[in-house]
Amino acid sequence: MNRVETVLGIESSCDDTAAAVVRADRTILSSVVADQSALHAAFGGVVPEIAARAHAEKLDISVAAALKDADISLSEIDAIAVTAGPGLIGGVISGVMMARGLAAGSGKPLIGVNHLAGHALTPRLTDNLAFPYLMLLVSGGHCQFLIVNGADDFERLGGTIDDAPGEAFDKIARLLGLAQPGGPSVEVEAKKGNAATFAYPRPLLNRPDCDLSFSGLKTAVLRSRDALVKDKGGLTKGDRADICAGFQSAVRDVLIEKTRRAIDLYLQRLPTQPVLAIAGGVAANTSIRAGLETLSNESGLKFVAPPLRLCTDNAAMIAWAGIELRAVGNPGMSPLIARPRWPLDPRPPAMLGSGKKGAKA
Ligand code: KG4
Ligand code: ZN
Repeated sequence: MNRVETVLGIESSCDDTAAAVVRADRTILSSVVADQSALHAAFGGVVPEIAARAHAEKLDISVAAALKDADISLSEIDAIAVTAGPGLIGGVISGVMMARGLAAGSGKPLIGVNHLAGHALTPRLTDNLAFPYLMLLVSGGHCQFLIVNGADDFERLGGTIDDAPGEAFDKIARLLGLAQPGGPSVEVEAKKGNAATFAYPRPLLNRPDCDLSFSGLKTAVLRSRDALVKDKGGLTKGDRADICAGFQSAVRDVLIEKTRRAIDLYLQRLPTQPVLAIAGGVAANTSIRAGLETLSNESGLKFVAPPLRLCTDNAAMIAWAGIELRAVGNPGMSPLIARPRWPLDPRPPAMLGSGKKGAKA
């Protein structure tokens, strides 16, 4: 029997040091994620220098653990795939240098992978989807609609022109004194509140495209908090819950309406098995996820949401993207360098304020 191609993946573009071993038959032999959040907790956000140093310390340990968990040696690996961007440059460089060293020492091919391609191709690893599918990538650093046409063919339909929703959730949590990461904390509070108490804006819904904006919403929340502090000297727990509920429902409404437009554009391509897939930490939000699933079902699309551990940053998605690139004869980024910015779809002109804003991708 022929051996199945097996790839080692390495990811270090934000605050997770990750290594994984994945086979072309979609078996994840191992997936190790060393989370740095404790190192950054005191600073209210990811500190790039601390992240880069922690990656440099943890990369070899994570790779060794991934190989051990997979019960495989480096000599049995067919290729090494590494995130070459976009992301925090110090972390990306740490990962690329580690991968270069491993490749040089072992003689294995090295593939530079776009972190966003890793997210966008994950539904093919988990659900064996056929191209083209519609993907909403909604995380702490990104928010964009993509038509995934192939392993190296992504069409960006639109995205945020300022903050990513996860970044907005994190900022709202900070404004309200809730724990980081903000998404889960705000979601817990929102369940206790009344979304109608505060009438927050639904930005850019007057525009017919798929672009989104969250910074005005964030400012509106700040203003309502400050007004309450001025009027009453502070916020009650009820006020805080109402703010969270109002904010979350505004984010959900905007995401759902813009997804509806992205679905319209995608359906014009007449896909034989239409699918909406989601990825990124914000996709963990029960209310947002349920809204997207309902919209998807109503529009006749299958809804695919990979398990959360594969929706958030991990190296299995990088190994898988490497497998996909090799399958279409694409050697990955060449020459392999670390890139802080690396748009998936080079076609549309860059918009003011678009692209990577937050620490995470
Ligand atoms: O995908 P992810 O782990 O990292 C990247 O951004 O790549 O996403 C993290 C983001 C954080 O901003 C976090 O607050 C947000 O996802 N998040 C959530 C929820 N869980 C995580 N946002 C809203 N609701 C949640 N339940
Ligand atoms: Zn990411």
